[in-house]
Amino acid sequence: MGRVVYKSLPDMKKARDRKEKPLTIKEDIRLSNTIKEFAKGKTYSIVTFGCQANVRDEEILSGYLELAGFKKENESTKADLVILNTCAVRENAEEKVYGEIGRYKAIASKNKDFILAICGCMMQEEGMAKKIMGSYPYVKLIFGTHNVHKILDLLEEKIERKKDIVDIFSFQGDIIENLPSTRLDKYKAFVNITYGCDKFCTYCIVPYTRGRERSRAKEDIIAECRELVKEGYQEITLLGQNVNSYGKDFHDGTSFATILEEVAKLGIPRLRFMTSHPWDFNDDMIEVIAKYPNIMKCIHLPVQSGSTSMLRRMGRRYSREEYLSLVERIRKAMPDVAITTDIIVGFPNETEEEFQDTLSLCEIVKYDAAFTFIYSPRNGTPAARMVDNVDDATKHRRFDELLKVIEAGVVYHADQMIGKTYQVLVDGPSKKDKDVLSGYTENGKLVHFNGPSYLKGKMVKVEILESHAFSMMGRLLDDPILVLASHAAKLLEKEDAVIRYKKYKEDFDNDESIKALLTEIENKQREMVKLAAKEDNQEALKAKKEYDELMEKYLNHPVVINLNSATDELEPLLLEVEGILS
Ligand code: SAH
Ligand code: SF4
Ligand code: F3S
Repeated sequence: MGRVVYKSLPDMKKARDRKEKPLTIKEDIRLSNTIKEFAKGKTYSIVTFGCQANVRDEEILSGYLELAGFKKENESTKADLVILNTCAVRENAEEKVYGEIGRYKAIASKNKDFILAICGCMMQEEGMAKKIMGSYPYVKLIFGTHNVHKILDLLEEKIERKKDIVDIFSFQGDIIENLPSTRLDKYKAFVNITYGCDKFCTYCIVPYTRGRERSRAKEDIIAECRELVKEGYQEITLLGQNVNSYGKDFHDGTSFATILEEVAKLGIPRLRFMTSHPWDFNDDMIEVIAKYPNIMKCIHLPVQSGSTSMLRRMGRRYSREEYLSLVERIRKAMPDVAITTDIIVGFPNETEEEFQDTLSLCEIVKYDAAFTFIYSPRNGTPAARMVDNVDDATKHRRFDELLKVIEAGVVYHADQMIGKTYQVLVDGPSKKDKDVLSGYTENGKLVHFNGPSYLKGKMVKVEILESHAFSMMGRLLDDPILVLASHAAKLLEKEDAVIRYKKYKEDFDNDESIKALLTEIENKQREMVKLAAKEDNQEALKAKKEYDELMEKYLNHPVVINLNSATDELEPLLLEVEGILS
């Protein structure tokens, strides 16, 4: 037997299937002694390529590894276990992965216990795992996008069998709930609402690597978001390859507009969502986005091409006119909305006229930002079989022309922002200069400004002074100390003990029987004072006894018991606050 156990391998035909219904599986995590022993004192590092779906998978992998006892190591070349979380969307994404694998060769040859694992979309391609196992003998474990939640079982199997393991399967995919996760950010969180994709755009590999389009149950999404709000998160981004096709698979009228509205109502300061497919973008969505101030007026709306004939060849399901009319409806409802996009240049047989249509669409829409790509054939997709008559030089010329038009739109919008004030969620000190903070405006623009680092994770007002197209320079308008103080007050209000105290205090204030008892107690106290002055011992003793009885009744009243225990519970917190303030 060879060094590698191939448990299962991907199959593009199976990956295309859309017959079965997905299951929702509640994960029941059990840690074996083998994995706990193995993880003891070991570190892990995950290197992620590609989109937010992969970023979220990284958080889930981290969740599992940390449960087992692995500690995170930020520098991947120092870790005992490295996982490369790959992307297959374009060839250059794959080239980066090959480069990365090479970095671990020397480490693997020095340290026999070092584990290099690879997962993600690239592994879902037919033939890829065998090729990698053949070319890089120090890769010890390969798995796919459908078994991220099996990471600990796979590691255990690798250790016990003393073999390298490949386990990647192509199926339509289930929905796994109760996933552990270690989020990468303390203030901004991603929440999956749909997985997979059923659109099958002719150029795209995602429907094959991520399985069928399936929506998470509303209750599971709401529970996750509610927890994030409670933890003090400032921003949630709802994720899906086609986020706005949410709920279509339930066939019960649930739509993206419904879930968006419900999450917005939870009170998260900022709510974003991506990626929206123009075909599924309806007027209900526009209404909800416009209605809630905490839904950011920033919409990523990939157009791919501005030519109807090209869009048809791409399998995009909308025409140039439909896209433009959608943009118009969105802008009518929200004049300040920022619209961003993805565009592919050099799709097979793109004519000059088709390309000019893309340029003119970009001139009309004036995007706030755009990701532009040169078409990259992906094995197994319909477009990869198309014979292409456009040479590379033409493709590159078109790409450069497109960039110029896009830049003009970006600069136009950026210039409009000068002199205006925006709310910025502070990410922290900027990468280039520790004394400069950076963060994003509601409309997704990066702003740099001077301010203290403790503003990280806070929302502040910034006036835009200068525009540099892809980032802005601004001036902090808020007093940082006051921002911090009001943030602390808000945090305090969110503490469980404070919430409980508030509830029981309200019950107490509204209880008629308590009010009556308190009046009786007060009257009895007055009577006792009078009797004491008269020096009538008999009467005084009687009044004292009645008073004690009333007090006992009061102290044993359930509403009073609740309030007193909530007050006791609050005490350590109050002492802590007092300690900080004094
Ligand atoms: N689900 C999203 C995005 C998926 S991939 C959507 O439907 O828009 C992100 C972007 O990569 C796509 O919008 C597309 O512009 C680009 N892309 C996908 N496949 C590609 C390919 N084969 N070559 C070049 N760009 C591609
Ligand atoms: Fe790919 Fe199209 Fe699905 Fe987006 S909608 S993931 S581009 S197939
Ligand atoms: Fe890449 Fe997979 Fe995302 S192919 S873009 S990581 S869904």
